[in-house]
Amino acid sequence: MTQDEMKQAVARAALDYIKGGLKPESIVGVGTGSTANFFIDELAGIKHLFEAAVASSEATAERLRGHGIPVYDLNAVTGLDTYVDGADEFDAELNLIKGGGGALTREKIVAAAAKEFVCIVDASKQVSCLGAFPLPVEVIPMARSLVARELVRMGGQPELREGFVTDNGNLILDVYNLKIRDPKAFETELNNLVGVVTNGLFARRAANVVLMGTTTGVETIKAP
Ligand code: 5RP
Repeated sequence: MTQDEMKQAVARAALDYIKGGLKPESIVGVGTGSTANFFIDELAGIKHLFEAAVASSEATAERLRGHGIPVYDLNAVTGLDTYVDGADEFDAELNLIKGGGGALTREKIVAAAAKEFVCIVDASKQVSCLGAFPLPVEVIPMARSLVARELVRMGGQPELREGFVTDNGNLILDVYNLKIRDPKAFETELNNLVGVVTNGLFARRAANVVLMGTTTGVETIKAP
């Protein structure tokens, strides 16, 4: 099975996972990235079963609309039953690193509004300790250097994501050289840096379930 076939398989598995709980008034939270794109394409086949989606990026909103799925602003809904999204890394507690596609802030907001976060990944994303994937940190442009110096002080090696501006008009520092042993504490510490909008650690709001595509099929991993 290729990586894309694994992504396709977990997208289908996510659809099966959420389908039974959908009601005509349901709003589905939808993430960003190549795995989320496979999910959006699957979701299109059952668009008659739910009311609308909330998107975690402009790219996702555009793809959803392209399939004729209505996209609501998060402010127009009182909450979401489910959020389905990919990740760049996940650990045994289902803490995640996200933001490889730069959509971390909106992803974190939509995930926070959802009762259940279903994370869809291929097996390459499973790690014992988060941090081999460079941790994305979204920063207000004028605070870029200030935050970068703080990240160096904290043991990281920040690199500006060249030529990239987030949907919120901000910049991304990708932080290399981290071994994140206490994801919740580190997420909070990063959030407390002046000029940081969000960081890509999803530990305070981790996934509830990970559907992982492997060469032999999809594994369901629940939070311990
Ligand atoms: C985007 C994300 C994605 O979920 C993450 O980068 C995984 O992407 P892919 O499914 O393409 O591997 O956080 O900001």
